[in-house]
Amino acid sequence: SRSIRLAVIPGDGIGPEVVAEGLKVLSAVLPQDVKVETREYDLGARRWHATGETLPDAELESLKGHDAILLGAIGDPSVPSGVLERGLLLKLRFAFDHYVNLRPSRLYPNTATPLALREEQRAAVDFVVVREGTEGPYVGNGGSLRTGTPAEVATEVSLNTAYGVERVVRDAYARAAARPRKKLTLVHKNNVLVHAGHLWKNIFDAVGAEYPEVTTDYLHVDAATIFFVTQPERFDVIVTDNLFGDILTDLAAAITGGIGLAASGNINPGGAFPSMFEPVHGSAPDIAGTGKADPTATVLSVALLLRHLGHDAEADRIEEAVAADLAERDPATARTTRQIGDALAARVSG
Ligand code: IPM
Ligand code: MN
Repeated sequence: SRSIRLAVIPGDGIGPEVVAEGLKVLSAVLPQDVKVETREYDLGARRWHATGETLPDAELESLKGHDAILLGAIGDPSVPSGVLERGLLLKLRFAFDHYVNLRPSRLYPNTATPLALREEQRAAVDFVVVREGTEGPYVGNGGSLRTGTPAEVATEVSLNTAYGVERVVRDAYARAAARPRKKLTLVHKNNVLVHAGHLWKNIFDAVGAEYPEVTTDYLHVDAATIFFVTQPERFDVIVTDNLFGDILTDLAAAITGGIGLAASGNINPGGAFPSMFEPVHGSAPDIAGTGKADPTATVLSVALLLRHLGHDAEADRIEEAVAADLAERDPATARTTRQIGDALAARVSG
């Protein structure tokens, strides 16, 4: 369509600052005839302090009427841990059935990595984690007995359904089949988590029979962390559960230029609900308002958003602009959040 109805949740800390730059680049990259109608939602710590609400039903309903959601960051030290995470961020992911949590990583030229990689390894680091987004230990299926006593017992049960695993595994195969290397790695821990591990591995193998062109691999999650550090170039597409994916994608960010560059999409592939795009980083309250936040992760999340809505050429332009900007970055001359956004906006429109 020639217009994009975009819901914007700037959120907390550096969220509003990085989102402003993301929107700047979005309007710079789109052709004149594609209009963006944005509607901003006041959700996050401020709202919770003012009204006690995290995500009222009316807001959830109104968000549904959009093509996509752009989210900055959620969380503030003044709000008890878990309140906004569960009540807002995870609530959105579950309510809008964001079962594909897509987290690409690429080691752009001139980007710092703590890894000692040979040049040909560096150039080959380009992988995407397909993290399941609606199940696993994130569902809140647990409880505690004798809470607060020395005899306390707590459970946090991971939910894995054939339905939920199959749909995310299918999505990952389709993504792998569409990439040049056509390789898909399942990451789990099926030597210990035998029940869930069995379900994942069986479905992974069964769906794989439909994709003979895709090379498959299996790694236990602990071994996967070693290979992320020693041979990150071996990965193409990775599919894994919600919690393993959470941990692996922070590691992925750390080895590919840091969380200032890590983008993500919370995707509902069928399109019954709006997908939501956000930088992987948090609200970084310690640097909020200082202009130190790097908006690049948000800008790359905007590229994922455009690709999801079928604006591939514009998504490509943003990624090329980021690559060019990174290639010229000089760590000795730090730029502000706005300066980086301006530079990227200029590149995509120029
Ligand atoms: C992420 C975050 C969230 C998660 C938290 C804030 C609930 O770490 O997006 O990776 O665990 O998914
Ligand atoms: Mn995380």
